[in-house]
Amino acid sequence: MLAIIQSGALLGVESFPVQVEVNTGERGELRFVLVGLPDAAVKESMDRVCSALQNSGFKLPHTRTTINLSPGHLRKEGPLYDLPIAVAMLLASGQIRGNCDGFFLAGELSLSGNLLPIRGSIAFAIQARRNGLRGVILPCQSAEEASIIAGVPIYAARSLKDVVRFWEDPSALPVLPLKNVPPAPRESGLDFSDIRGQERAKRAAEIAAAGGHNLLLMGCPGVGKSMLAKRIATILPPPTWEELVEIYGIHSAAGLSIDGSWADGSRPFRSPHHSISRVGLLGGGSNPRPGEISLAHNGVLFLDELPEFARGTLESLRQPLDDGHVVISRSIGKVRFPCAFTLLAAMNPCPCGYLGSRTRPCRCTRQQISDYRARISGPLLDRIDLHIDVPPVPPEKLRAGRSGETSAQVRRRVCAARICQRERLQKLGVPCNARIGDSFLHELCPLGEAENLLLRRALETSALSARAHGKVLRVARTIADLEGADAIATPHLVEALQYRLLDDS
Ligand SMILES: Nc1ncnc2c1ncn2[C@@H]1O[C@H](COP(=O)(O)OP(=O)(O)OP(=O)(O)O)[C@@H](O)[C@H]1O
Ligand SMILES: [Mg+2]
Repeated sequence: MLAIIQSGALLGVESFPVQVEVNTGERGELRFVLVGLPDAAVKESMDRVCSALQNSGFKLPHTRTTINLSPGHLRKEGPLYDLPIAVAMLLASGQIRGNCDGFFLAGELSLSGNLLPIRGSIAFAIQARRNGLRGVILPCQSAEEASIIAGVPIYAARSLKDVVRFWEDPSALPVLPLKNVPPAPRESGLDFSDIRGQERAKRAAEIAAAGGHNLLLMGCPGVGKSMLAKRIATILPPPTWEELVEIYGIHSAAGLSIDGSWADGSRPFRSPHHSISRVGLLGGGSNPRPGEISLAHNGVLFLDELPEFARGTLESLRQPLDDGHVVISRSIGKVRFPCAFTLLAAMNPCPCGYLGSRTRPCRCTRQQISDYRARISGPLLDRIDLHIDVPPVPPEKLRAGRSGETSAQVRRRVCAARICQRERLQKLGVPCNARIGDSFLHELCPLGEAENLLLRRALETSALSARAHGKVLRVARTIADLEGADAIATPHLVEALQYRLLDDS
């Protein structure tokens, strides 16, 4: 007898339909044939399925049994086919009845027949909705994750037995309630008011958060660069529900929800170590998984000690920074990962760290300094909207009590500036000034006569590239938005031009 169950294959952050077909033939010796481009984990699933069936009180078929995962050209990875294979075997061997055609099934089975979470549940729910399926049955934790997707009923099952009961009586499992309210952001315990002094760096951080601009902090050891960078997460505007669903979809495809680091209601803040590989940063693998830049989608990627990253790894950021997505080519096809992130970087001014310090002499030679700076290429630097020098804080300021604004106060201004941007940028479908396309730049960031003249002079006297010129315009627009100003005025432009420290170096 032939039984067919609907399932899916995860490719990047998207799911494609897979049919699990089981055919039981003539009675005789049990022999399984598994076809349809399965990987090693799928092949191992037969041992788990047989054990789970027996331990759940079912019999193994006494026939030659063919299991086909269709279509054959899609590579099938992971243990998610355990559940659909087990249910299809029970149907094909006549051990269960009922009409539950058109339900999507995925889940790993333990030997006892319990269900274990799988990665990609959000992509599976989206695929099931797109294909008009009747519902999605998943292990409990994966079902919870998928219940943010509207338009398709999601059912949570604890074991194979739960699914069999559902097959015979669809009221045996309740539909999970739809989750469409963002969870509260996780409390980090960090606050902007922890930082003494550094008014200029804090201002640059506020502009970066408000407009989604890339920011590079350069300064001597211990001046508070890493401290400030970590606190930028506390002033970011909360993500919209659509942005949050995109973030969750990527984290679910990476399997991060399974190991307990499930995203909360805030934007992601990723800070990979400088020893990270290109694949770790960009994504990849034989069945590509998202890298750090995609896990930072709609949030911040913080690269501390920027010159310590491998040069090739840094260079590979250029295209994703421009496009907001990365395409990885594999034999199985091209996989596209979203990665619209804000780049935040910190570095010392020279190898010993003390160039420009008033308290300690710098011991580096000119050549050493220029070799050190050359680790970050001109094109990468050009893509960073704001570069600033972070000077040491005078000792008397360090010893003073908390004085500056709190994160909540700064975030209020940032959120107001984002609302202005969202209204203006609605037709472009981008969330912030940093993402304004080149072709809309002059329409959306118009300048008056005096400002035009000022910018032209700046272009003539400094080493601003055409790209850097665009970055200055976008940053000036954000500064105007923070002030609630309709038009970019001279002070906004002057301030934006001050944040191009490294263009002339
Ligand atoms: N402006 C500041 N206000 C309060 N504390 C500060 C400030 N700057 C530095 N500190 C203290 O110094 C510590 C070191 O700062 P941080 O790690 O941010 O330095 P850094 O600039 O990243 O140095 P490095 O270049 O060595 O990485 C902080 O944990 C904090 O305790
Ligand atoms: Mg540091």
